[in-house]
Amino acid sequence: MDRPIGIFDSGVGGLSVLKEIRRQLPFESINYLADSNNCPYGSKNEKDAFLLAKKNIEFLLELNCKLIVIACNTVTALAIDNFRSEYKVPFIGMEPALKPAALKTKTKKVGILATENTFNGKLFKQTFEKYAKDLDVFVQPGYGLVELVEQGDQNSPKAKKLLEEYLLPMVEKGADTIVLGCTHYPFFKEMIQQITQNKVSIIDPSDAVAAQTKRVLIDFYLVAKDDNDPTFNFYTTGEKVIAEKFLSCTMDRPYGLEQIDGDL
Ligand code: DGL
Repeated sequence: MDRPIGIFDSGVGGLSVLKEIRRQLPFESINYLADSNNCPYGSKNEKDAFLLAKKNIEFLLELNCKLIVIACNTVTALAIDNFRSEYKVPFIGMEPALKPAALKTKTKKVGILATENTFNGKLFKQTFEKYAKDLDVFVQPGYGLVELVEQGDQNSPKAKKLLEEYLLPMVEKGADTIVLGCTHYPFFKEMIQQITQNKVSIIDPSDAVAAQTKRVLIDFYLVAKDDNDPTFNFYTTGEKVIAEKFLSCTMDRPYGLEQIDGDL
């Protein structure tokens, strides 16, 4: 049987990426780890977030994963370079989607929501320099949003209130494009459309990340054969009921779900 792809996030956010990978790579087996017990990583000190990410990677490598997708902007920003030099498997990470935003915006005003650690990392600064220097970029940390998704409260009045607080000022200043710089945020897509009255383009980089995963699998001769009957195994360090709630609306195939120890 073909070796699985490993995907991890600080929680269920990376399922938004998994969904797109499943769509573009339907024969690939996947092991997904949600470190929900230690979520959020976005406001943790860098060393702790690094050690947690390392633990996740080693867990997935034990399961013989052939490639790791870091479905977390925060970990990508903090540590993907270190992991690429430490481990032999290829890594795919998340990048703040300022390039597609720059191509899309007509007003040259773009809003971006991400975690504090993502904004603090050098990847954001580099991406900004490369693609967004000529734009007005409104940067907004999404305080509290990841926690709401992890509790399954992404459609709650509290979520609406926070999103209004974060997004309406950008729209009032003329932003016509909003970048989702955290993999948990696509779960708010409908609410964002409602709040902005469908007046902004929402940029979610999941499809680009899935396309990059496919390119790298091809380059490394790692693509699963198209007679592979893929298997899907999920691991959470948090509560199984929450993971189950998200998986039931993400997966259209049978899967396994196991709770694992989340301590460092
Ligand atoms: N999904 C993670 C990201 O893309 C959430 C970060 C967090 O745990 O704060 O950044």
